[in-house]
Amino acid sequence: MSRTIIVSNRLPTKVQRTEDVLTFQSSEGGLATGLGSIYRQEGNVWVGWPGLFVEDTAEEEYVREQLRQDSMVPVFLTEAEIHDFYEGFSNSTLWPTFHYFPQYATYEPAHWAAYVAVNEKFCQAVLAQAGPDDTIWVHDYQLLLLPEMLRKARPEATIGFFLHIPFPSYELIRVLPWAKELMAGVLGADLIGFHTFGFMRHFLSAVSHLLGFTAQNGRLEAGDRSILVDTFPMGIDYDRYVEAAASDTAREHEATYRQVLGNTRAILSIDRLDYSKGIAQRLRAFELLLLRYPEWREQVSLIMVVVPSRDQVAQYAALKEEIDELVGRINSAYRTMRWTPIHYFYRSFPLDELASLYRLAEVALVTPMRDGMNLVAKEFVASKADHRGVLILSERAGAARELSDALIINPTDMHQLTEAMHDALVMPEPEQIRRMTAMQKLVGQYNVFAWTKLFMDRLAFSKHRQHTLDTE
Ligand code: G6P
Repeated sequence: MSRTIIVSNRLPTKVQRTEDVLTFQSSEGGLATGLGSIYRQEGNVWVGWPGLFVEDTAEEEYVREQLRQDSMVPVFLTEAEIHDFYEGFSNSTLWPTFHYFPQYATYEPAHWAAYVAVNEKFCQAVLAQAGPDDTIWVHDYQLLLLPEMLRKARPEATIGFFLHIPFPSYELIRVLPWAKELMAGVLGADLIGFHTFGFMRHFLSAVSHLLGFTAQNGRLEAGDRSILVDTFPMGIDYDRYVEAAASDTAREHEATYRQVLGNTRAILSIDRLDYSKGIAQRLRAFELLLLRYPEWREQVSLIMVVVPSRDQVAQYAALKEEIDELVGRINSAYRTMRWTPIHYFYRSFPLDELASLYRLAEVALVTPMRDGMNLVAKEFVASKADHRGVLILSERAGAARELSDALIINPTDMHQLTEAMHDALVMPEPEQIRRMTAMQKLVGQYNVFAWTKLFMDRLAFSKHRQHTLDTE
C-alpha cells in the first residue's frame, strides 16, 4: 500500500523546555488541522523539526518516542543549524526576499551551506520512511531544495510542493546568488502549488529566466519531466472557529473584556511579530485616526495581539522595540482616566480566547505589507455569528483575491488606512451583514479540508499523467 509523508520545517507539535521539563504542545494552526486527517492515517507520517535544541541522545530518544505515538518523525537541528539554516538562510535571506524586503536580506555563504545540509538532513529522514512509490508532500520556503533531492533518490515517488508565502517578482529572485539552485530544487516535484495566480506567474517567469523552461496551460516541461503548476488558496477549519466563537468559554471571556472596555468599541489586530505584517504602520494609522477624528477618542480602542516570533533575528528584535515605543507614545499621548487607546498583548492566545476577541471586535485590521494568504482574516469572518463586523484587508495579502467584500486598502497608504477605519466604524449594519455573509459563504465552502483534498487529488492526477506520458 502506498503511503503519504508530509514534510515541513516545523512539526504540528512544538516541544518546549520549561525548567528542565519537556512539554508537547499541539499546534492549532490551519496546516496542522488540515493535514491531521492525512498524517494520522495508518502508515502515514509527518516529518519535521520539533522546534527546540535537544541536548543529548537520551533526550532525542524520548522526544522521538513521544512523537512516534502521534505519527510524527522529528528531524533534530544542532544549535549551529538553528542559527545558520533557520534564523540565517530561511529567515534572514529567503523570508525578506520573498516578502519584498531585500534591504533586510543577508547573503552568507555559510548560511547557504547550512541550508543545503539541512535540506539533505530532511531528505535522509524522509527516505528512511518512504518506499519507492510513496507520496511525499513538501511544505514551504525552508525546504525548497528537498523535492529535487528526493527525486534523485526516489525517481518513482509522487512529490508535491506547496509554498505558503508569496513568490516574488523575478527581479527580487535574481538578486539571490543561489537563485538557479533554488528553482531547480523545487522542480523535483510533480505538482507545485501557490496561494494565488500572481505568485504562480512570478514563479513561472523566474523558472523561464533562470532555467529556460517554459510553461503552457499550467504544465512546465522541464527536460524529460512534465510538472503541473497550479493555485490552491488555503482555507481554515471554518466549523472549528464557528464552534469556538459560540462556546461558553468564548462568551465568558468576551463578557470579561466587555466589562473592562465598557461602551468602548473595539478594533482588533492579531499577528505574529513580523515586519511583513505592517504592524507599525497600522499603529501610526490608528494614531492618525485619533488625531483626525477626535470624536473617536474614548469611543474606540485598538486591541493588539502580537505573537512572539523569531526574536533571535535582528530585524524582529528591532521591530519589537519599535512597536513597544509606538504603543507607549500613543497611549501616553491620548489615554484618559477611563480610556486606554491601545490594549497591547505580546504573547500567544489559546483558540477560545482568540475566538472571544473575534466576537468582541467590530473591526479587524489585517493590513500586511505582503502575505502569502493570511488566515486571521478568514478566522475573523468565521467567528462572526451575527454577521456584523468589518474586515479591513490589505490588497497585498493572498486573501484579498478571495475576500473582495472586505474594505481593501493599500497598507502603505496611511491616510487610506485611517479613512478605512473611520468608514468601518460608521458602516450601516445592513451593509456589514451583506459583506460579511458573502465572505462567510466563501470561507465556509473553501475550507482547509477542501484545500487539502484539492491538492492531494491534483497530485495523484499529476502522477497518473506522468505515467501515461512515459508509456506513450
Ligand atoms: C509562516 C511560514 C511557516 C512558519 C510560520 C511560523 O506562516 O509560512 O512556514 O512555520 O510562519 O514561523 P516559524 O519561524 O515560527 O516557524
